[in-house]
Amino acid sequence: MEVIAFYNLKGGVGKTAAAVNLAWLAARDGLPTVFWDLDAQGAASWYLGVEEGLQGKPRKLLSGKRPIGRELCDTAWDNLQLLPADERYRHLDLHLDEKGGDDRLHQLLEPLSERYALAVLDCPPSFSRLSENVFRAASRVLVPLVPTPLSLRAWAQLRAFFKQHELPRRKLVPFWSMVDRRRGMHRQLVEQPPLNMKRLLGPAIPYSTQVEQMGLHQRPVCDFAPTSPAARAYEALWDEVRQHLEGLPGHHLA
Ligand SMILES: Nc1ncnc2c1ncn2[C@@H]1O[C@H](COP(=O)(O)OP(=O)(O)O)[C@@H](O)[C@H]1O
Ligand SMILES: [Mg+2]
Repeated sequence: MEVIAFYNLKGGVGKTAAAVNLAWLAARDGLPTVFWDLDAQGAASWYLGVEEGLQGKPRKLLSGKRPIGRELCDTAWDNLQLLPADERYRHLDLHLDEKGGDDRLHQLLEPLSERYALAVLDCPPSFSRLSENVFRAASRVLVPLVPTPLSLRAWAQLRAFFKQHELPRRKLVPFWSMVDRRRGMHRQLVEQPPLNMKRLLGPAIPYSTQVEQMGLHQRPVCDFAPTSPAARAYEALWDEVRQHLEGLPGHHLA
């Protein structure tokens, strides 16, 4: 099973929107996909039409006392199941501290590999015990960046964190998000990306009101507006991400 995480130290940059659409596209391509919404705010769960939190306590889930399989929810789509967010995830860091180790998430995900080809993690924006677990569990950490100086600073901070914690920086894969080509700074950065972004993915996600409307429809934009520019951009992004994931079935055919 391949594990991809969507992460940025900054909030409101399009992590959740991208995570939901790429998971949906993977499922549409026939890959059994599990989405773990690790953000207490639960935006991804909402977009995927699931409004209830976990049935058991997050602490029990993390300790292994409650098997993860018991918390999986079906979505409206084939091949896509959700481990929903929970308000109590605010304390996830504490529980991870109690259980110790930065490999806990990795261990919890392992049994899912019997059923799923892909796990998608949507993360809250912070450096924490949880994010460190995420960085270790994921084979790729996809980083949406809005083309502004502040985003580039967050990108540099993330790279520094990886270096400091001896995490492989090749896991970090950035892409442009919420791009508004009417703005000079956006155009300039997209056309001439900084040198420290050498694994930058080609497709840029445009700023689009259709993405905002995901909240109204409670569906990914790729589902309700598949020919929109945003949906096409997510699709192109998924095609590139797929090529990074050597463990997916049929990878050699791509
Ligand atoms: N490409 C986009 N164009 C326009 N609005 C977007 C786009 N991506 C996300 N948004 C909106 O911006 C807000 C934050 O997006 P979200 O994906 O939740 O970011 P994050 O998970 O990084 O906090 C949401 O209201 C969302 O609808
Ligand atoms: Mg989010």
